[in-house]
Amino acid sequence: MPDWVKVASAGECPPGRLLGVAAGFERIVLANVDGDIYALLDRCSHQDFPLSDGELVGDRLECIYHGAKFDVCTGRAMQLPAIRPVKTFPVEIRDGDIYIEI
Ligand code: FES
Repeated sequence: MPDWVKVASAGECPPGRLLGVAAGFERIVLANVDGDIYALLDRCSHQDFPLSDGELVGDRLECIYHGAKFDVCTGRAMQLPAIRPVKTFPVEIRDGDIYIEI
């Protein structure tokens, strides 16, 4: 059954930044695009390296390992070598804290 989990305070993930967090047994990467927070599984769909090591450019997360790019809003792969999407999670901000539904 899905559950909402607090993963960080909003101040820990300022605009233009990524933040790797733990949520239960999963590693999640948060991305702040102009004040909107998105959450994706912190595992590149190419070779499973952490996406939180990458860079956020606009609404694209670039994996530093081999250059794949993902749309952080949808998790869709936008550039090879990744072809599969990355799982995304619903996000809510409550009283200045970031919650995701896992
Ligand atoms: S592990 Fe991300 S592009 Fe290869």
